[in-house]
Amino acid sequence: MIDLKLSIDGVTNFVTREEIKIFENEAKHHFQNIQDKTGAGNEFLGWVDLPEQLDDDLINKIKEDAGKIAGESDVVVVAGIGGSYLGAKAAIEALQGYFECGNGDSKKPQIVYAGHNLAEDYHYELLNYLDDKDYSVVVISKSGTTTETAIAFRLLKAHLEKKYGKPGAKSRIVAITDAQKGALRELADKEGYSAYTIPDDVGGRYSVLTPVGLFPIAAAGYDINKLVEGARNMRRFLLKTDSFFDNPAFIYSSIRNILYNKGKVVEIMAQYQPNLFYLAEWWKQLFGESEGKENKGIFPVSVGFTTDLHSLGQYIQQGKRIIFETVLSVDKSKKKLNIPRDPENFDGLNFLGGKNVGFVNSMAEKGTTLAHIEGEVPVVKLSVPLINEKSIGELFYFFQLSCAISGYMLDVNPFDQPGVEAYKSNMFALIGKPGHEARMKELKKRIK
Ligand code: PA5
Repeated sequence: MIDLKLSIDGVTNFVTREEIKIFENEAKHHFQNIQDKTGAGNEFLGWVDLPEQLDDDLINKIKEDAGKIAGESDVVVVAGIGGSYLGAKAAIEALQGYFECGNGDSKKPQIVYAGHNLAEDYHYELLNYLDDKDYSVVVISKSGTTTETAIAFRLLKAHLEKKYGKPGAKSRIVAITDAQKGALRELADKEGYSAYTIPDDVGGRYSVLTPVGLFPIAAAGYDINKLVEGARNMRRFLLKTDSFFDNPAFIYSSIRNILYNKGKVVEIMAQYQPNLFYLAEWWKQLFGESEGKENKGIFPVSVGFTTDLHSLGQYIQQGKRIIFETVLSVDKSKKKLNIPRDPENFDGLNFLGGKNVGFVNSMAEKGTTLAHIEGEVPVVKLSVPLINEKSIGELFYFFQLSCAISGYMLDVNPFDQPGVEAYKSNMFALIGKPGHEARMKELKKRIK
């Protein structure tokens, strides 16, 4: 059984059961195509069977190597962008304590990120921060040529080599990249870095269950066996659940497309637990990059409640009615915290005395959901009992499969990202990358 539950009670005012049922054949057909690897982008379907195929030797090696660098580092820097860092960050942020910052009592290293932006101050301050820390670097790039990651790694490599000497630096670098191609693979082979391979048939945003996600998550001290177990349970459940209405990936992907066809072109993922912020970022990348093409696609947005009820909440309640919401709900907090009674009751909150904060949060969630439904915002609810490795693993696999089915329903290839090239070619021209001279001339005319 799986822990994840999907509730569509919040969409019944907007979508009938009959409308959902119409999608049954299509959902099943696309799922079959995914399993048989016969649909668009079928060369990137390696993630489908990954939870079953990950062998113990690889998982044990990741645990051993990650444990080694974690043991000798106050800080582990994960250098990567897009699918090469978001999955790891989503899991790590969800699992770690809010104020846990490495090397406290937990003896876990602090995980920080680089190469996911080009901000000079960010990287300058990162290097300064690392000056007096023992640290290691995990550099992740499937293509091995991504500019942001390559610049960050160049900076970190030079810093590491200055600090530890070349041989010392070498033992503190792990490269995760393609088996054969790309500058990072060449460098890793030449320098003799410890290296892991990203399978050819797994694209960046579907790669969290490869070393791309598993290595940093293990280095942060979390149980990757349980994460994989969660994904495996979800995969088995979705494979064997042929009954349409009982298969949450069929229903979620169908409802998204029905709502989209009714003009709900924005999907907001809402969470009430700030540690799910990056899970929503990962989800945004997965769906946005997979579906937003050919002038089509639901625009994925995320909010953190109740924080954003004092911000975007106004728009969600009364703005343009083009939104539906997917709530990522957690049944239980890890800790209990009672609201104290106060003899003076200065704020009038004694009616909550003795109740826990989670009770108020869950009532805020229920109340908000009802308000949004009344405001013509359909609400899909996905809930897990608790945030832990297993539930995160379930969510990863659930969203990946739902995204693939949903993308096929939209009739796009959910595994490519041709639109990403546009910014790259302009940036390459403007930074003077050899081979981009003609574009540079063209752009220079347009830039004041
Ligand atoms: O999902 C994707 O394919 C992208 O978001 C990539 O992960 C991202 O562009 C980073 O690419 P690379 O791993 O080649 O550096």
